[in-house]
Amino acid sequence: MQYRALGKSNIEASVVGLGAWAIGGWMWGGAEVEQSVSAIRTAVEGGVNLVDTAPIYGFGESERVVGRAIRGIREQVVLATKCGLVWDRERGVFAFDSDEKSIGGKVYRVYKYLGAESIRRELESSLRRLDTDYVDLYQTHWQEESTPIEETMETLLKLKQEGKIRAIGVSNATPEQMRRYQAVGPLDSDQELYSMLDRKHEGGNLPFCREQKMAFLAYSPLARGLLTGRATPERQFEEGDARAGMARFSVENRRRAQDMLERMRPIAERHGCGLAQLALAWAFHQPGCSHVLCGVRNSGQAEAAVAAGEVVLRESEQAEVDSLLREFSDIV
Ligand SMILES: NC(=O)c1ccc[n+]([C@@H]2O[C@H](COP(=O)([O-])OP(=O)(O)OC[C@H]3O[C@@H](n4cnc5c(N)ncnc54)[C@H](OP(=O)(O)O)[C@@H]3O)[C@@H](O)[C@H]2O)c1
Repeated sequence: MQYRALGKSNIEASVVGLGAWAIGGWMWGGAEVEQSVSAIRTAVEGGVNLVDTAPIYGFGESERVVGRAIRGIREQVVLATKCGLVWDRERGVFAFDSDEKSIGGKVYRVYKYLGAESIRRELESSLRRLDTDYVDLYQTHWQEESTPIEETMETLLKLKQEGKIRAIGVSNATPEQMRRYQAVGPLDSDQELYSMLDRKHEGGNLPFCREQKMAFLAYSPLARGLLTGRATPERQFEEGDARAGMARFSVENRRRAQDMLERMRPIAERHGCGLAQLALAWAFHQPGCSHVLCGVRNSGQAEAAVAAGEVVLRESEQAEVDSLLREFSDIV
């Protein structure tokens, strides 16, 4: 496993981190707790230390499962969670109503809110669910306009002084918003959508993070599974798996993606790895992309994530992939 600094903090995090969204079940057609626990433990034993979760993932469930999985190995883990999506109050900016199908018949009204007292309450709840007394990386999940960024950053800096969080990050933020945070105190990371099929940050957040010596954590680096080779046109998704309704997972798009992946397979084979690992390695070799967060649901996928951290691609291979991506630019 390769490790890189998490911004200007003294924390070294594995280039491949574990993403615990699917583990919360919601929007992913459910999850099996024992399988999830064993996936996390397998990844950590294999050298993955970065584990990313959020309160909203399964409305607390992902954090509870992560907390259970890291009991006894807490010190080996760089634990990242988030704040700013709340469902216990109607404050801030309305974000969405949850889909009741995946969370036992309940619908939650979710708001984006980063007020000082709310962040403190959220952190206390996360610490309880994660069964720990500090978070390594605390990130604002989505940005909102009702609370000035300066006030949010002051709250985060106080939490850092109090020893409850070790590093501060943002997610789904623009360079302009990050500049406002940075004017109050140092940001260590930015977490954004980035994969072979989602490259818009190459023109903005990636160079910004590089210049500011911040870590860039790529989320959904497997395009939610489309880039793994397992999303064949025949695959049926479980009830409550949001992918079923996405244009990205239309049968035609999956067919095109499979054609492209077959053309990429020889590159993966040269490295003795699979397509998912090639997609992860391609991302963390891109300029400015310091880490990738790979969503896993079982220990087999965790082992693949571990092995991806060993892959070293040549520039010519990155170029080969880029040329195939241009040829298949109709894939959404
Ligand atoms: N900040 C944000 O707003 C935000 C948004 C999205 C995600 N994230 C973070 O980023 C993490 C990763 O993103 P993601 O979970 O959306 O998607 P992803 O990492 O692109 O894809 C994960 C999915 O791919 C499949 N998969 C994983 N490894 C595989 C392997 N070796 N072989 C075959 N299939 C494999 C699994 O689904 P199946 O087995 O069901 O196919 C898995 O759930 C999240 O868990 C979360 O921590 C953050």
